[in-house]
Amino acid sequence: MSNYRINIMVCGGTGCLASEGDKVIRNLELILKARGYDKEVQVVKTGCFGFCEQGPIIKIHPDNVFYVKVKPQDAKEIIDEHIIKGRKVERLLYEEPNMQKKIEEHENMPFYQKQLRVALRNCGLVNPEDIHEYIAFDGYAALGKVLTKMTPDEVIEEIQQSGLRGRGGGGFPTGLKWKFTRQSKADQKYIICNADEGDPGAFMDRSILEGDPHSVLESMAIAGYAIGADYGYIYIRAEYPLAIERLNVAIKQAREAGLLGKDLFGTGFNFDIDIKYGAGAFVCGEETALIHSLEGKRGEPTYKPPYPAESGYKGMPTSVNNVETFANIPPIILKGAKWFSSIGSEKSKGTKVFALAGKVNNVGLVEVPMGITLREIIYDIGGGIQHGKKFKAVQTGGPSGGVITEKDLDTPIDYESLMGIGSMMGSGGMIVMDEDNCMVNIAKFYLEFTMEESCGRCTPCRVGTKRMYEILQKITDGEGSMDDLQNLKELSHMIKGSSLCGLGQTAPNPVLSTMHFFWDEYVAHVNDKHCPTGECTGLAKYKIIPEKCVGCTACARVCPVDCIEGEVKKVHVIDESRCIKCGACFNTCKFSAIVKP
Ligand SMILES: Cc1cc2nc3c(=O)[nH]c(=O)nc-3n(C[C@H](O)[C@H](O)[C@H](O)COP(=O)(O)O)c2cc1C
Ligand code: SF4
Ligand code: SF4
Ligand code: SF4
Repeated sequence: MSNYRINIMVCGGTGCLASEGDKVIRNLELILKARGYDKEVQVVKTGCFGFCEQGPIIKIHPDNVFYVKVKPQDAKEIIDEHIIKGRKVERLLYEEPNMQKKIEEHENMPFYQKQLRVALRNCGLVNPEDIHEYIAFDGYAALGKVLTKMTPDEVIEEIQQSGLRGRGGGGFPTGLKWKFTRQSKADQKYIICNADEGDPGAFMDRSILEGDPHSVLESMAIAGYAIGADYGYIYIRAEYPLAIERLNVAIKQAREAGLLGKDLFGTGFNFDIDIKYGAGAFVCGEETALIHSLEGKRGEPTYKPPYPAESGYKGMPTSVNNVETFANIPPIILKGAKWFSSIGSEKSKGTKVFALAGKVNNVGLVEVPMGITLREIIYDIGGGIQHGKKFKAVQTGGPSGGVITEKDLDTPIDYESLMGIGSMMGSGGMIVMDEDNCMVNIAKFYLEFTMEESCGRCTPCRVGTKRMYEILQKITDGEGSMDDLQNLKELSHMIKGSSLCGLGQTAPNPVLSTMHFFWDEYVAHVNDKHCPTGECTGLAKYKIIPEKCVGCTACARVCPVDCIEGEVKKVHVIDESRCIKCGACFNTCKFSAIVKP
């Protein structure tokens, strides 16, 4: 790795940057300079290490020491103690909560022990802005191998044998997609990398592009060779500035090194790449909408067939593949299909990256072999539920997926098994919920998202999702009826059956699955006008417990509608008929005298 004696790798993922990661980097650089060590020690802003809960994270190479929750003011101690005197800064090492033991190497942390990094192999390991570091870790060797030793058909065969399936959500076999695109006859073909990543909470693709952009460029060139394309586009949302910046640097460096452009490896094969920006519409991640957007048209989906493999960008055969799918290609070419297919379950090979979020202790980015159980992800890797609360459900598949409950936590996960238990793999969003989460509210959250993201082309999706949202709003406001529940079901099936694209076809899934598993919770909202978790503020009934009230007047002072009455040091009372259920009094009372039963 580079000419530096020590590399201080600082996580440049969004989570760490939000916790002053940038200031940590700046302070480390300033202090290194002030101490005269800046020529032998380098500070590198890497891609995401995944352990976002413990950020900002620093890893020192080659010492293999992992520091967590680093603050800008810790930079001085890290340089003076670790870098100059060779003494580890104990207080910044990760402490495993159950063992109450400090752990230096990330390999020994429970968060990483069940993970297997294939797509994320270089994230946090290489400097994403230095092509030489990528090359030092076998970068572009797979491209060299396919161009000099394999025919396009052999490349496709290898990918087919590996069992790799698209990681963008659909799980279509990648080798087969390339085969179809290769078989389409045309003078010009295209490769598109789908980096739209619109699922709420998902950041797998961004992390790969920020942490290892060359792996995607190399794979696009391999895909181009396999299908017979000499040009590729990366369609990325404009809200990903760091990923865009790193892609631009990587493309420039690859061109200068002769690894993109004309006559690659002296074989006569040409391949170049351009970046196109999306405006952040979820529907533009759907491949036909993406292609329209790329062509400068409205980002609306169209009927398939014809599939892009036949008629895609500018009417030419096009292979659209997801970022994570691409990131798996070089290791398959170098280590072989057999190695890849030895990982995972019978029908889903390799690993999957998940953005683990919600009420779990270790929020972060995790890459696990297919076939692992959700229990292992949530409890062994994720460290269990926050504050010792009870697990309630986990949502996979983002707004297209569904909830999975305790009884299915031991199902080995793959594309088919998740469908079998009423959810789906999707692109990798995984949101954990505890006993305090209201399932009607969760369904409303996802439906609001799909309603707002509907492109409006077809009526069932455009109008149907709006009607469903209105019904859910009614229910969470305490105005719903049993007829509304029936209407929700009927609308769901109608929208699923008559929408044009995957957005509409799957939008009702979160509603249907929460109704299936948490029917009693819906009934409590409509019949008892009661939200069992107390999360639906519209149904809350704030009351003051006389025995606990000390008459401090704090609640009366914050009530925006002056509906709390009482004198100093006397019990206060809420006039429920005027209460707008804002919750201000509940959050203010220091004596736990206000409840929302
Ligand atoms: C509403 C909608 C949004 C989608 N968003 C994405 C996305 O952000 N990224 C992605 O790779 N695929 C997305 N897809 C799937 C793509 O249409 C396509 O199947 C995928 O890019 C193919 O790549 P893969 O075979 O490598 O998975 C979306 C599909 C739908 C219906
Ligand atoms: S289903 Fe929804 S998002 Fe898809 S084309 Fe129809 S209106 Fe647009
Ligand atoms: S804030 Fe609590 S203790 Fe104080 S008056 Fe209100 S209910 Fe009573
Ligand atoms: S919930 Fe809001 S409106 Fe109702 S009593 Fe409390 S502060 Fe007043």
